[in-house]
Parts: sequence; C-alpha cells; structure tokens
Amino acid sequence: MDEDSRIADASEVPADSTLLFTVRDGLDEREAILTKNGDDEVAAFENYCQHWTDVRLDKGSGATKRDGELVCGKHGALFEADSGCCTYGPCEGAVLEDIGVTIEDGAVYLTDDDYEFVQVGSSMEYDLSSNRSLGFD
Ligand code: FES
Repeated sequence: MDEDSRIADASEVPADSTLLFTVRDGLDEREAILTKNGDDEVAAFENYCQHWTDVRLDKGSGATKRDGELVCGKHGALFEADSGCCTYGPCEGAVLEDIGVTIEDGAVYLTDDDYEFVQVGSSMEYDLSSNRSLGFD
C-alpha cells in the first residue's frame, strides 16, 4: 500500500465517533470523516450533512455516533455509519458522499482514486462564531 495514502493507525479511529481528515479532489481540499464499524471495517465520507450541505457532521472534535449511526447535530438526521444512508430526519433516503478506505496491517489507507490524502484534521480555518469556513465558498 502507498504510504502517501496512509491516513492513520486503525487503533486511532474511534468506534463511537469519527476521525476528521482532509483530502484533495483536483484543486479543492475537502474535509472527510473516518469511522470504525467493527474491528476490521472502516468507512469514510465527505464531512457534510445531506440536508444542509454547509453543515459539518464533525466540527473538529468528532461527530456524534449512536447505535451505529452518525448524528447530525443541526436537525438530528441519522446516517448509517457503514453505508452513509440517512435512515431518519429531513434528508431520509439521501446518502453521504462515500470515500474509499481500507485497513491493511493495522493502518487505514485511502483507496479512492478520486481523492488524494492531505492530512489528519482540517486544513481549513473556521470562524467558530458563525460556524462557516473562512476563505472558501
Ligand atoms: S443540517 Fe443536518 S439534519 Fe439538517
């Protein structure tokens, strides 16, 4: 596996929350979230709700995860943590934007040709008072 696509040790990915990371899609950088669903299974999605796409699921300290579902803090939509499918809420039936990842030799790697791994955490600056990104539209 290519070391440039190594995101984190599998042990660093919380079972009850998410690990925030940044990917590049062409010229754009985007936030993504990684979540563990069992010992050998991880899933990753772009870090925005399907209801209001300017709302981040993980605001930097991990998204809420309850009974295997990711919770949007804004209006309470629930998304299956393995498929990204919304099972409840204003965007029921919508699906989070999936990013391909896999576990190999105890590490999580990005396997999606549409993205390049940039770093763990956000590379974007957020104005916490308004909850909007600065300098990105
Ligand atoms: S913005 Fe996520 S449920 Fe409304």
